[in-house]
Amino acid sequence: MASAEQLKALLRSFVDRDDAQFLSIAMQVAAYEAKRGHGKLAEELKEMIDAAKSRRAGRELLGRDPTPISRPRGELAGLIAVSYPHDTLAMMVISESVRERLARIIREQRHFQRIREHGLSPRRRILLTGPPGTGKTLTASVLAGEMSLPLFLVRLEGLISKYLGETAAKLRLVFDAVRDTRGVYLFDEFDAIASKRGLPNEVGEIRRILNSFLQFIEHEESNSLVVAATNHPELLDHAVYRRFDDVIEYQLPNPAQIAAALRARMREFADKGMDWQSLGTEAGGLSYAEVARAADEAIKEAIIRDRSVVSQTELARALTERLAMRPTQILRST
Ligand SMILES: Nc1ncnc2c1ncn2[C@@H]1O[C@H](COP(=O)(O)OP(=O)(O)OP(=O)(O)O)[C@@H](O)[C@H]1O
Ligand SMILES: [Mg+2]
Repeated sequence: MASAEQLKALLRSFVDRDDAQFLSIAMQVAAYEAKRGHGKLAEELKEMIDAAKSRRAGRELLGRDPTPISRPRGELAGLIAVSYPHDTLAMMVISESVRERLARIIREQRHFQRIREHGLSPRRRILLTGPPGTGKTLTASVLAGEMSLPLFLVRLEGLISKYLGETAAKLRLVFDAVRDTRGVYLFDEFDAIASKRGLPNEVGEIRRILNSFLQFIEHEESNSLVVAATNHPELLDHAVYRRFDDVIEYQLPNPAQIAAALRARMREFADKGMDWQSLGTEAGGLSYAEVARAADEAIKEAIIRDRSVVSQTELARALTERLAMRPTQILRST
């Protein structure tokens, strides 16, 4: 156990909110425990201290404390859902150009204060387009994870109200949150409001939502990131595009990318000598999401059979099964 003096010093630094002093005393405690032969405890303490230090460094890099844990309350709770993802860019299989553009957004966000000091604004309004299962929603998680920001998912269906004027008021609540709580705000399935078309009886209200949305994003000057995603870019109104700082297009994976995604997903479950390249070719046409599902199915099967690895044949079978599950109209339209 730490000495009485150490405990008092720890408490004092906590009360003074002196993180550096707190960690330095914690380090002394670890050294003290190591000397007394409590090697395992000392090691655990050191690991905890290192993790705390790297989190502090990350915060300093962001130029501010992380946004306080926030739970939307009241009416806002029905409009946005919050999560705190830990996803990283390294988890994604994407083209180099998409990777570079995402890395640029993250860089600009990390240096947003310096950018603002020069009267400029970081990229913060991003439109993601592409077929289902190509990583648009995942990208929003990755941006939040890389910047240690909360991810707020805006429920578009919650915004659409049959009462005139109510929609604009709800959208205002959402954009107040965008201004007040720094985070990544995802407007998923954005075509629901940004579409040129729509059911005739809905058109009026949807048009109003889109117009309010466009006004809000045009005028907002927050440090949050507003991400909109759609797999129907052809339905988007032209006025929508120019309001975004970046439009990133996602594609279905090519065979090499399928192979990379499979490999990452299978991890230690892959049999040695797996021919990834030919699996990637065989699975051509599947999305990343479908490839991930097939890999998971094969792994589950192995677990149930009490086996520690999946063979090439088994994985190929899971992929073929996924291919057969695709609705024919999707195959025809892509
Ligand atoms: N580029 C990618 N790299 C690695 N894994 C991916 C990628 N894209 C998708 N996945 C996997 O597929 C899952 C689903 O992807 P995601 O929800 O991001 O697709 P989406 O583009 O938003 O699709 P939709 O248009 O249907 O909403 C992810 O959680 C991840 O497991
Ligand atoms: Mg999605």
